[in-house]
Amino acid sequence: MFMIRQFQETDLEDVIALWEVCDLSRPWNNPEIDIFRKVAQKDQLFLVAIKDDELIATVMGGYDGHRGWVNYLAVHPHQQRNGVATALIQQLEKRLTALGCPKLQLLIHKDNIDVQNFYEQLGYEEVEVICFGKRLIQD
Ligand SMILES: CC(C)(COP(=O)(O)OP(=O)(O)OC[C@H]1O[C@@H](n2cnc3c(N)ncnc32)[C@H](O)[C@@H]1OP(=O)(O)O)[C@@H](O)C(=O)NCCC(=O)NCCS
Repeated sequence: MFMIRQFQETDLEDVIALWEVCDLSRPWNNPEIDIFRKVAQKDQLFLVAIKDDELIATVMGGYDGHRGWVNYLAVHPHQQRNGVATALIQQLEKRLTALGCPKLQLLIHKDNIDVQNFYEQLGYEEVEVICFGKRLIQD
């Protein structure tokens, strides 16, 4: 079995290593800075899953006052298809609902069919939008 708890600072290196293994690291994102920024939010929406004292999964949730967001959902390849991501998303949904958040959204790469299947079976639907972005700080 695994347990879900909030991220704590001693998880830092394990989280960064997990994102590497799960291929979530991107050259334009510095994971350490991403984590420090998130911790500074103090919103209790950055969750990790622990099994046998090992950090096996993460989800970095957020709420901007209008929508909830999911980032950095990752489950270690050896621990996938055991319901860990489902449990993390359900825990995040619970916390966001308690905050009064009316809708949860996320961005996924068009080619990531596995993740599309995962979210569809949890009741998420594709939304026809184009995502625009502008970098404000170069990490
Ligand atoms: C996507 C991911 C988070 C799913 O984690 P997981 O813990 O394996 O997911 P669950 O066990 O909760 O899966 C629940 C259901 O989702 C669907 N699903 C999950 N992974 C799937 C896959 N690779 N292919 C097809 N369907 C999948 C299945 O219906 C599954 O139920 P089943 O195992 O009974 O068939 C995991 O594969 C992952 O970390 N991938 C790499 C990182 C990534 O792409 N993150 C998302 C960035 S947007």
